[in-house]
Amino acid sequence: MTTDFLVIGAGIAGLSFAIKAARHGSVTVITKNQALNSNTAWAQGGISAVLPEGLRAAEDSVEKHVADTLDAGAGLCHEDAVRTIIAEGAATIEELVEWGVAFDRDDASYQLGKEGGHSERRVLHAKDTTGREIATSLLETARNTPNLTLLEGHFAIDLITTAKLGAATEDRILGAYVLEESTGDVQVMRSDRIVLATGGCGKTYLYTTNPDSATGDGVAMAWRAGASIANMEFVQFHPTCFYNPGASGPEARSFLVSEAVRGEGALLLNAAGEEFTKNYDPRGSLAPRDIVARAIDTELKKTGAPCVFLDATRKPKGFMKERFPFIYETLLNFGHDAEEAPIPVVPAAHYQCGGVVTDLEGKTTIRGLFAIGEVACTGLHGANRLASNSLLEGNVMARRALAEILRLYPPGKQSPGAPGIPPWEHGDTAPPDELVNIYHNWDEIRRTMWDYVSIVRTDKRLQRAAFRLRNLRMEVREFYWGYRVNADILELRNLVAVAALIIDCAVRRKESRGIHFTLDYPEPLEEYRNDTVVRRF
Ligand code: SIN
Repeated sequence: MTTDFLVIGAGIAGLSFAIKAARHGSVTVITKNQALNSNTAWAQGGISAVLPEGLRAAEDSVEKHVADTLDAGAGLCHEDAVRTIIAEGAATIEELVEWGVAFDRDDASYQLGKEGGHSERRVLHAKDTTGREIATSLLETARNTPNLTLLEGHFAIDLITTAKLGAATEDRILGAYVLEESTGDVQVMRSDRIVLATGGCGKTYLYTTNPDSATGDGVAMAWRAGASIANMEFVQFHPTCFYNPGASGPEARSFLVSEAVRGEGALLLNAAGEEFTKNYDPRGSLAPRDIVARAIDTELKKTGAPCVFLDATRKPKGFMKERFPFIYETLLNFGHDAEEAPIPVVPAAHYQCGGVVTDLEGKTTIRGLFAIGEVACTGLHGANRLASNSLLEGNVMARRALAEILRLYPPGKQSPGAPGIPPWEHGDTAPPDELVNIYHNWDEIRRTMWDYVSIVRTDKRLQRAAFRLRNLRMEVREFYWGYRVNADILELRNLVAVAALIIDCAVRRKESRGIHFTLDYPEPLEEYRNDTVVRRF
């Protein structure tokens, strides 16, 4: 099939793009899951934006939001990206409201929350399920948009480019091989304009706040296609996930407790009841995430305690239930009453700050291939993302990418001389016979990354991880070529590629900066004040 725009991913970035692109040509959005399984839908805290005067906090300004973002990014943000994206906060909120998103309001204005690293209240939210509110509103809008086809259960296997088909001159996008999960058929989806909006890669780690779908598919595909990738060493760990050792699966062991809870006054305490984060940063519990996550990690290692505590009991009774009903009820289902006792918490992998390199129009290094949202590296986050900046980035970059695509590759103007794309060959491969191999490798990758490549790194730990990943990559390659593809094999193949990219980027950065911290080089160094860019030749 052929489509003017092929959008891979159905979170805030993909849907914001698709809804508007449909005014200009046919749009096909594919997602490997049910569309509501995106990282967007799981976001709790909210979306940061400086609203027009009268609606924002009296002291707030775009300049202050810019300054907070640059401060969190630890010297690696691209200031032009920060300024451009932050400046569009009010326009983004207006657009989302138009699409039906109902942010919490007082009579006159929006309620504004606060999170770590923000000097002012500027986080719009819908209680503690902001992401779900955004995702459901955008999905409903998308489903009612003419010219837009949403295909769930469709897994993009690989991008097809002229270079892959043997062209020696320019490299441009031609389409993608896509697995229809219910039938096992692989089809060629042909498009000169492909937008990657596949989200992040939290599932490379044993414990993560992300949904199962976060397997780094977009980064892995773009890497295989030869696009530049940057800053994959900067995986952000969220400081406060419910510590639940009795739970049966990893998912139940890393339920996110939003930073907004701290924004409303809950404090992080150690087992002795001390606000230990003050020993690491004067902002204490509301310091940027890298600082708080590292403070917790250090405290746990120092004291041997399994967790620290998030104390919301100091808030008036009924506060958690009213302001954070989803968190309160979920914890209650796990047997914990957050209004009665401090919540035991530990950090878990949360957000990919690096990704596919793009300019401020979402362009990657391959013509016609764009990347927006968490999958992309625009320079907004630098070495550490400021909380709640990502939903904003997803929507702003969708707007900018569409404008650029319409300028460069308007639909109707077919690119000349497109070579014929060969159909997918299943060859004589058989369905995988022993799923245990896949699950074993999946676990091994995630445990290796958790043990050796998480909050505190060393050269030795990274070398160990690199050694294991090399072996795992070979095994996964055998599965991929030896068996008929299915979603499990494809996710494993992407996961192992992205884990290797994280390690390679981390090995190159011989300093500590933002969320990349290594005991061997504990200080930031001027000579490393640049992006870690990697590319496959
Ligand atoms: C949270 O609610 O703490 C997550 C917000 C974010 O990661 O931006």
